[in-house]
Amino acid sequence: MTATTSLDPTGLVDPAVHAAGAQHEIWRWMREHSPVHRHEPTHLPAFWSLTRYEDVRAVYRDPGRFSSASGVLLRPTRLREDPGAGMTLALTDPPRHKELRNTVADWFTARSVRALEDAMRGMVRAVLAQAVEAEEADFVHDVAGRLSIYTIGHMMGVPEPDHETLFRWTNEAFEAGVSLAAHQELMLYFIDLMDRRTANPADDLVSMLLGGTVEGELLTEEEVLLNCENLVGATENGRLALAGAMQAFLENPGEWERLREDRSLLPSAVEETLRWTSSATHSMRTATEPITLHDQRIARGDKVVVWVPSANRDESIFPAPFTFDISRKPNRHLALASGEHFCLGATLARAQARILLSELLDSTEKIEPAAAPTPVHSIAVNGPEHLPVHITGK
Ligand code: HEM
Repeated sequence: MTATTSLDPTGLVDPAVHAAGAQHEIWRWMREHSPVHRHEPTHLPAFWSLTRYEDVRAVYRDPGRFSSASGVLLRPTRLREDPGAGMTLALTDPPRHKELRNTVADWFTARSVRALEDAMRGMVRAVLAQAVEAEEADFVHDVAGRLSIYTIGHMMGVPEPDHETLFRWTNEAFEAGVSLAAHQELMLYFIDLMDRRTANPADDLVSMLLGGTVEGELLTEEEVLLNCENLVGATENGRLALAGAMQAFLENPGEWERLREDRSLLPSAVEETLRWTSSATHSMRTATEPITLHDQRIARGDKVVVWVPSANRDESIFPAPFTFDISRKPNRHLALASGEHFCLGATLARAQARILLSELLDSTEKIEPAAAPTPVHSIAVNGPEHLPVHITGK
């Protein structure tokens, strides 16, 4: 599948266009000329594209008119509805959504994340020590991926000796571009973990889901399992954002030196890496009523897709949006969404980035590209699939 011209919006459904970095020119054109753009059916259903910051934000903040319950990602028409529809955190609407979110929200508060910081710092030190010793690493696989999966494994109550296996299985699924639900060993592992926690509840996410009630009813086994999958799957964004942050600094070494010189820039640097990477490429919603937007008439039941990296490069909101500036302020990016479905892992993702960057500055003298990065091929997430680096320790 190839777009006819470099500015052809139909190119947005082609992972190769995203991998080649050609999507930003298309979005720039759409923000200016076609902010509510109709895509006719291909292997995907028909949908509307929104590319401007204000429109993307408004959709995220209006779950009443823009429903998540039948899916939040574009799926080929030949596939059935998303198996988590109406059941997982990401795929439910209020009021059910809020109750479901409350069953696990405690684990994601600032206080809970602070309590995890020592454990995360320990994980970062261990993975960096290995990379420094080897003097080279695939930053995606060896550093960002391990950190993301080990952390969620720890939170879910996966025993530490199994973290590496969990990491291998999730990698197999992510690399094959299939959902985690399609990975049988992983799903069987979670079913077994659920059985163990039903017998012996512990202080972890799986036990919380098992004990959680929505509308006065315990979650079914299927709902618990699908929510486990949702939580582990959501960390793919974390991995891509951390690795994308490293890539941004490798491509802008002046900003890395700035951060080395002035650590007070760390919080704004983390926000800028989130804006810059915008690793969740799109979210989809279904209109629950007819909506007119910029003179276009969206019908009830129509699919509406918001493109997050486009919103975060909107020139009417961000001065010099294509400049990676670690002191950017204000920086009200939408990388973690907004409103009802605001990323549950936001505080965690920010803490991981802060810890990883500060440990990198502390423990390394130099980090350089060892080869060109390979991008992921996807229209749902973006970032490096592989990021080979040379690392020199202090
Ligand atoms: C920097 C990395 C991350 C990015 C860019 C990101 C982005 C997002 C976005 C855009 C959404 C909204 C999706 C939608 O409503 O259609 C979301 C939701 C969510 N994220 Fe993240 N995420 C990140 C890291 C994480 C991590 C580490 C976790 C931890 C488990 C996580 C868990 C979730 C969950 C469970 C939801 C669904 C929340 C709900 O529907 O109430 N995310 N994330």
